[in-house]
Amino acid sequence: MILKPAARSIFSPARLLLVLAAFAIFHTCEATAQTTNRYESFCFGVCYYPEQWPESFWKDDACRMKECGVNTVRLGEFGWALMEPREGHYDFSLFDRAIETLGRHGIKIIFGTPTAAPPKWLTHKYPEVLGVFETGRPANDQSRRQYCYNSPVYRRLSRSIVEALARHYQGNTNIIGWQIDNEMNNENPEDFSESSRAIFRVWLRQKYETLDELNARWGTVVWSQIYSDWEQIDLPFQTPAYHNPTLMLDFKRFISASATSYLNDQVEILRRYRPNDFLTHNGAFKNINYYDFSRGLDLHAYDNYPTFDNSPRYGTGAALTLVRGFNGRMMIMEELTGPAGQTYMLRTPQPGQTRLWAMQTIAHGADGLLHFRWRSAVRGAEEYWYGVLDHDNVPRARFEEFKQEGRELQKIGPQIIGSKVVSEIAVIKDFEAGWVFDYQFLTKEVNVSAVYTALFQAASEQRHNIDFVSATADLSGYKLVFAPQIALMDEGLAGRLRRFVEQGGTLVMSAHSAIKDRDNAFTTAAIPIGLTNVFGVSLDSFQTYQPPSRTNNALRFDDGGVLPVHVFAEVLRPTTARVLARWERDYLKDSAAATEQPFGKGRAVYYGSLFNVDAARYLIRRYAGEMGLQPSLADVPDQVEVTRRTKGETDFYFLLNHGESPATVNVGGGFIDVITGRAATASLTLAPFDYRVLKRERLAR
Ligand code: GAL
Repeated sequence: MILKPAARSIFSPARLLLVLAAFAIFHTCEATAQTTNRYESFCFGVCYYPEQWPESFWKDDACRMKECGVNTVRLGEFGWALMEPREGHYDFSLFDRAIETLGRHGIKIIFGTPTAAPPKWLTHKYPEVLGVFETGRPANDQSRRQYCYNSPVYRRLSRSIVEALARHYQGNTNIIGWQIDNEMNNENPEDFSESSRAIFRVWLRQKYETLDELNARWGTVVWSQIYSDWEQIDLPFQTPAYHNPTLMLDFKRFISASATSYLNDQVEILRRYRPNDFLTHNGAFKNINYYDFSRGLDLHAYDNYPTFDNSPRYGTGAALTLVRGFNGRMMIMEELTGPAGQTYMLRTPQPGQTRLWAMQTIAHGADGLLHFRWRSAVRGAEEYWYGVLDHDNVPRARFEEFKQEGRELQKIGPQIIGSKVVSEIAVIKDFEAGWVFDYQFLTKEVNVSAVYTALFQAASEQRHNIDFVSATADLSGYKLVFAPQIALMDEGLAGRLRRFVEQGGTLVMSAHSAIKDRDNAFTTAAIPIGLTNVFGVSLDSFQTYQPPSRTNNALRFDDGGVLPVHVFAEVLRPTTARVLARWERDYLKDSAAATEQPFGKGRAVYYGSLFNVDAARYLIRRYAGEMGLQPSLADVPDQVEVTRRTKGETDFYFLLNHGESPATVNVGGGFIDVITGRAATASLTLAPFDYRVLKRERLAR
């Protein structure tokens, strides 16, 4: 229940407790970074729900899994109601027996902590744990993810079940890792509960210390919003007019900090009881800064369902590139296996495509892969989500494809594990800067994730590896760095970008970058804030073309290249920079649209529009070309994707035929086929949706 602010007593004992709990939440839960390598061998397997099947199935399941090369299953993540049927009464016996059966067949366990689906007794006894929608209505508890991770009661109960679980399995040698909760922020990425409201205020107090500071930085003088009491601050419920953009950004930061703090409760417990197991979490959803979130994990897991995307080759590739960068290590916890749906139905992958998409994840850095799920559920919410086996338990084509994949990964996995996708090109990914556009969306064409996909696509088409890196990352290993609409600037980031260029890098920044400070507020400084001398240019004025923007104007480059405008057409005022491109039309005609200037040993390029795929192609071709960056392989047909992973002196090349027709690649000599262990022929023909993994000793680059 949400109480109206006026009706609430701020001195009630319940509220006091909430506030105390809030202090505890944000004070005690700093996770420490991994210190040992707990994830050592390539996991291949499935997500398995022994609790949904008669026990008489289990042995046969384990045998068939083994036949397919499965070495790991994830289980348990929705089993709380069985593990704690009554508050404080624990019963792990079903999972004990399942783990033992699997263990007898050499199958190891990633245990999912069950906190994404609280049992009924819990939500009925403690309704205050329910998440609340913006309308003020609590989430109904007849599904999953209905809880609020800021609820002190939920935090207590989730810590208790995880501690009981970890204690119970303290000496178990079949368990090798843990998935904490499940897909946080999927299905309810914002919470408007009383707990979140109280803790938001505490979080703001810790951040700003005084109301004067908050009022000044939020600019609350606008629209008479000056706060004279912390209790006047609220979550951003619906208002008649627009919200304060600093509040909106702080709300996202708060959600991310809350999710991270909740995760770290479990990290702390699991590390205490199971210090040698690896810890992970699956998924990449809204309102989490995953660079912070996954700091205490050994690796981050991604759930890969390419059929949500119409053309998954680039969308999936970009997502994998993003997740790989969260903490440097990635596995796939849930990989699509076949037809999939809930109330909806996605298209069915063609024969061979599931295996190809699985291999694409490994090509982009996954060090392990589990398919979702072993057998299609006969009842319940997931009955349309198909697994390796059909509902009737009869092995059909999907089983054979999975088995083939398992056989191949038995050869590939141990060789490629620990190898890295090494890139010379990077794109800065600043979650906070991206969140700005969630509220201030500007026009319907502004799409932050599409920009990353466009840059990924262009790099992939031109056969370059590419990384997405945080705004605090060390850029010194890169040659070419893109900064796409990184709206928020601070001294640290400006300094890192300046040093990168000074030391010889090429930085290409798009429009609408460095326009505000970290408060999501404009400043009185010239734009790009803190970088005008690096670029030798400042922003004069701009036009915002309404959708569809691309026919409204174009940037004409010095080499004759013409690129369509994307949303913004910025008029640039060069001080020391050279004009690279001018606007072609409209009242902006002939004014500077893109500039370049040498700075230190490198150069800074300012692109006066948002990046789209045309811009990404042109800019990567031009600057990778000028800097002499070599494609990983030359002369590869368009339908074949290429990536390269490197370990020590060995380069692994992944060739993935996304086409429905065969494709021939002339790789040349010197390669070994990783599956057969034999020399690969200089010319290879890949069947539709087929792939090869080749290796050779590293060439000088
Ligand atoms: C994921 C989730 C799984 C399952 C799967 C298929 O988002 O983690 O539990 O629901 O989707 O729907």
